[in-house]
Amino acid sequence: MGLLDGKVGLVVGIANERSYAWHISKSLIEHGARCAFTHLPGDRNHARTSRSIEALGVQNPWLKSLDAGKDEDLDAVFAAYAESFDRMDFLIHSIAFAERDLLQPGKFVTTPRAAYLSAIDISAYTLLAMAARAKPIMAKSGGGSILGMSYYGAEKVVPGYNVMGVAKAALECTSRYLASELGQDKIRVNQISGGYLRTLASSAVGGTGTMEDVVAEKAPLRRNVEGADVGKTAVYLVSDLSSGVTGEVIYVDCGVNILGA
Ligand SMILES: NC(=O)c1ccc[n+]([C@@H]2O[C@H](COP(=O)([O-])OP(=O)(O)OC[C@H]3O[C@@H](n4cnc5c(N)ncnc54)[C@H](O)[C@@H]3O)[C@@H](O)[C@H]2O)c1
Repeated sequence: MGLLDGKVGLVVGIANERSYAWHISKSLIEHGARCAFTHLPGDRNHARTSRSIEALGVQNPWLKSLDAGKDEDLDAVFAAYAESFDRMDFLIHSIAFAERDLLQPGKFVTTPRAAYLSAIDISAYTLLAMAARAKPIMAKSGGGSILGMSYYGAEKVVPGYNVMGVAKAALECTSRYLASELGQDKIRVNQISGGYLRTLASSAVGGTGTMEDVVAEKAPLRRNVEGADVGKTAVYLVSDLSSGVTGEVIYVDCGVNILGA
């Protein structure tokens, strides 16, 4: 028997097989969950996400186009989900965006207003936007677990992380306010603060070239985080094992965040 047998939910954020959302989905599926998915609009994005889902062993996936920056897309995806499924036990928010040029050491002070707002919109506001649409579906079936992905740059300055650090701070705070309001509907909201993993999104951050070597040398566990480490914590946060946990940020980073230098 799997820990997540009978559970079904929506995963937003698979770009390819390196995506944190892909590793999370793999772990959830291994423990018995059924996942519905979205992809960024466009044929190439559709093809890339489809291939990655196929690699998860999912046949005929539920897969819809979603630009999370557009309310009409969000409305359409959640309405379609509610037509296809009578429950939503989990929602995985694993998306972020900021302009690559601004994610370079020394460039934070150059961030224009529009780029700052857009980073917060896609990387943080969308958690609220999705939670609002998930709420009635989750509440109807007795509650659920909403999970997002954060990073240490929300708390401390990580060179090059810049406006994304601001967005992650907003994401973590948004998560706590959501947890506080949605708890009465038995909806839990948590974040995993993941360690550095080479993905499309993280390779946009300048100055990360030596990150893996530094982590392997300095992290308490003397290794870099793997997607499966985050996947396993996601299973815990989606499952009943974490029934009393909400509003938390859980580090899955091989211990890097505890170091002072
Ligand atoms: N890779 C890391 O080192 C690391 C560490 C900690 C946290 N995270 C976080 O994990 C999450 C997933 O990132 P990843 O590293 O797996 O990279 P990724 O590039 O594989 O995933 C990012 C996803 O965001 C999606 N996205 C961007 N803009 C979108 C929009 N407007 N609408 C819908 N989707 C949109 C992309 O399509 C992509 O699937 C992000 O929140 C990221 O900040 C990553």
